[in-house]
Formats: sequence, C-alpha cells, structure tokens
Amino acid sequence: MLPAGRLVRQGAPAAVPGKAECPPMWNDGSVRDPLVDRFGRVATDLRVSVIDRCNFRCTYCMPAEGLPWLDREEILTADEIERLVRTLVASGIREVKLTGGEPTVRPDLPDIVARLRGIDDALELSLTTNGYLLDRLAGPLAEAGLDRVTISCDSLLRHRFAEMTRRDALGRVLSGLRSAATAGLRPIKVNCVVIGGTNDDEAVGFAGLAREADVEVRFIEYMPLDAERRWERDKVVPSAVLRDRINAVHPLATVNGHGPQPATTFRFADGAPGRVGFIASVTEPFCETCNRIRITADGQLRTCLFSLDETDLRTPLRSGATDEDLDAVVREAVGEKWAGHRIDHPDFVRPGRSMSMIGG
Ligand code: 5AD
Ligand code: SF4
Repeated sequence: MLPAGRLVRQGAPAAVPGKAECPPMWNDGSVRDPLVDRFGRVATDLRVSVIDRCNFRCTYCMPAEGLPWLDREEILTADEIERLVRTLVASGIREVKLTGGEPTVRPDLPDIVARLRGIDDALELSLTTNGYLLDRLAGPLAEAGLDRVTISCDSLLRHRFAEMTRRDALGRVLSGLRSAATAGLRPIKVNCVVIGGTNDDEAVGFAGLAREADVEVRFIEYMPLDAERRWERDKVVPSAVLRDRINAVHPLATVNGHGPQPATTFRFADGAPGRVGFIASVTEPFCETCNRIRITADGQLRTCLFSLDETDLRTPLRSGATDEDLDAVVREAVGEKWAGHRIDHPDFVRPGRSMSMIGG
C-alpha cells in the first residue's frame, strides 16, 4: 500500500499530462492554472454521478431493499451539471465520466450528454453503466455525443450474475454490450469486480469475452465501499493472481504501465483482439498518479473515492456564485487532496457514503 508520505510535495504546478495539451482557459481566453494539489498531481479527469438510484442491487454495492434515496430537488439539474462541468473544463478537466447509481435510469441522460458535448468537442465523454438499458439508449447516447461506455459485468454465468446483482439480467446486459458496439460507443470496457470465493474462477472466461467481443475487460479489486459493510480483506483477490491465471492460458503482452490511468493493460500475445486490464486499488494503489476528482449526484466534490469529507458545490451554485467563485472553491478542495487511501493501514476509516452514492 502507499504510505501517506511517499508523494513528493512540489511548489510549482505540474504540467497537465496526456492529451491536455492546450492550457485551461477562462471564457475570455485568458489562461487558468491547472487544478493541482500539494503533491503536484493535476486533476484532468472528472466523474459526475447523475443519480444515486439504481435498477440493480449488486451485493458488493447496496442492500436488496436499496438505500435512502436523495430527493429530486437535492439532485443537480442538467443545467447545474452543465454549469459545473463548463467551469471545470476551463480549469483543465479533459475527461468526464458520467456515473451513478445507474446513470441510465435518469430520463434526461441524453440531454445531459448533449449539453456536455456542447462544451467542448475535444472533451472525452464516457459513461459507466450496468448495461441493462443500453439496448434502447446506446443509439440516442451516441447521437448526443457520448464517446464510449464502460459496462459492469461480474459473471458470465447466468445464476451467479443473478446472485451478484440480485437481477436475472446477464442476457440483457450482453445484448446491451452489443448495442453499444453497434452504436459506435467504442472502445468498450467491461468492469468486473472480483470477490474471492464468488467469481474469481472466471478470469479466463472473461479473457475469452475480451477476445471474442473485442472489448477491454478490467478486473477490479473489491474495495471497502459496499453499503452493507460486508467487505473483508480476505475476499480481495490480488490482480497479480488473476493476471497469472490468464497469462497461463492466453499469454499477455504489456500495453502500458499505470500512468494516470488506474488499470495496467495487456493485449494478447497471439494478436487476438481485445485487452485485459487490472485495477489493483487495494494491493497496488495508484494514488500517486491519481488525476481524478468526483462530484456526487447532490453536488458534493470529492477528491478521493475514500475521502472522509466533501466540499459543497451545490449551495454556491444555487446562491449565485460566479464561475470564478466556483473555481476558487474547487481549487481549494483539490489543493487539500490527501496523498492516498490507506485501506491496508490499521487506522483506515471507511467513508460514510458507499459506492453508489459517491459515483464509481
Ligand atoms: N469494490 C470495487 N468496485 C466496485 N464497484 C461498485 N462497488 C464496488 C466495490 N465495493 C464498481 C462497479 C462499477 C464501478 C463504477 O465500480 O461494479 O463497475
Ligand atoms: Fe447499481 Fe452499479 Fe451499485 Fe450494481 S454496482 S447496485 S449496478 S450502482
């Protein structure tokens, strides 16, 4: 795990990495400093949760009866989301992922996508979804300007899928995946949360899906973010174990190391299509290169999945704050971002809100 002190403090803002070559700008064309924290990490990737509700009940995420949902008026409107994202894009955000809950249960999702696409053609716009509603939404979302989707799927066995999500919906999710491919929402990623003793025997099966469907399957280590607090360290299957299992059947060739992306990605050495990626959030944390910030459905800024505090953006947004005011609030919160989570540390404290309320 990453000890808190390992990051190097830097005085000057770091260069914005990757595709963020043009500097952040105000509407009048003047240049803004990037959103940099005290360790020199630059926030370029924003996750926006558009709703806390979900039509699934994954056991590692929420209880069968659901959670106390936010009231409609607590949730940011499409206008408010657009306003916040526009301000943050001017401060250097280059990639926006819409999440939930389950974002496709929000009826105005295509409108939100169209508004965000209108901010900047170069903005990379993606969606994390359970795929259940993609059959009918993939086309409208692609038309609205969405670039690509990440679909969650934790088992390729119908009964196990039903147990893990509490919905008998594997067929429909796989058909949603095909609809996304047809609509051009590529490259498609498939997120598979691996839980020891539940689905860790499916790594090779999922590698087969990657090869057949030409998708990137990303194995995610189980994190202590489930609402029912059932997470146990013993149920975390190290990514390295899964990688070795796949490599023994389908030899892998490295595509990248971490960089700012959390997944270490491999292609297949025999030239087959598809990729596999490993998000080793627990056993090999990538906090050191984290370029992410998050906004919850009720407009709270979180600088880490595991943050214990949040910064309220909704109140200033609803009480007449200017873009400069909002930028200042975000900048201060990002500046304070901590070095990283300490899941393996005895003093680790779980955040009060679970995954569906934070936005993955
Ligand atoms: N641990 C790891 N990943 C999780 N997700 C939801 N809950 C957890 C958890 N406790 C995943 C979802 C989705 C992504 C946003 O986060 O499966 O793919
Ligand atoms: Fe819904 Fe995603 Fe949570 Fe499953 S993991 S219950 S699909 S929000």
